[in-house]
Amino acid sequence: MKFFVDTANLDQIREAHDLGILDGVTTNPSLMAKEGITGEANIRKHYADICEIVSGDVSAEVISTDFEGIIREGQELAKIAPNIVVKVPMIKDGIKAIRWFSDNGIKTNCTLVFSAGQAILAAKAGATYLSPFLGRIDDISWDGTELIAQIVEIYANYGFATEILAASIRNPLHIVNCAELGADVITAPLKSIMALLNHPLTDIGLEKFLADYAKGNA
Ligand code: G3P
Repeated sequence: MKFFVDTANLDQIREAHDLGILDGVTTNPSLMAKEGITGEANIRKHYADICEIVSGDVSAEVISTDFEGIIREGQELAKIAPNIVVKVPMIKDGIKAIRWFSDNGIKTNCTLVFSAGQAILAAKAGATYLSPFLGRIDDISWDGTELIAQIVEIYANYGFATEILAASIRNPLHIVNCAELGADVITAPLKSIMALLNHPLTDIGLEKFLADYAKGNA
């Protein structure tokens, strides 16, 4: 199971990388805006900075919604570094563009996926990654994990090579659920990844070990 961090914050990317468990990064226009990164040149420079830290795949999202625009933008993004993955929205021209990128050796991440039907189309088009948005489905009182389970089953039925990259993760339990279901990748905020560390019995146990050591060595 691969771990990606879902942020454009360089400090958080460095922290996840230093932990030794980071396989890649995902970003989106909202995450870029959150860091105050605006304008084409600054955004490209920021992707280059992320790729300096991380050798794994880094998703960079296009903002065009027409086929020609997506191709033009994706080609430019792909030139930034060999580990850039072009993130393309799940729309008709996006699917056409994913097919084109796939035929031309450029990796893609199909984003804004909310149904199994969309997942089938993206795999047929040759997407490298598929991003179903777990948390946003939970937000409307549906069960996001059900969608992950459905896609895992469908992709296994046909041996689709597209990797399921569970996105819109909101808490550590989402990560555990995705692991149980067999998602290939999760992308999560650093907070959710770090929360996997926590267990009160670990803290209590460690405190006792250290206290007993201190007594024995007093
Ligand atoms: O990068 C896409 C995704 O992870 C968005 O998450 O929390 O905005 O639904 P969220």
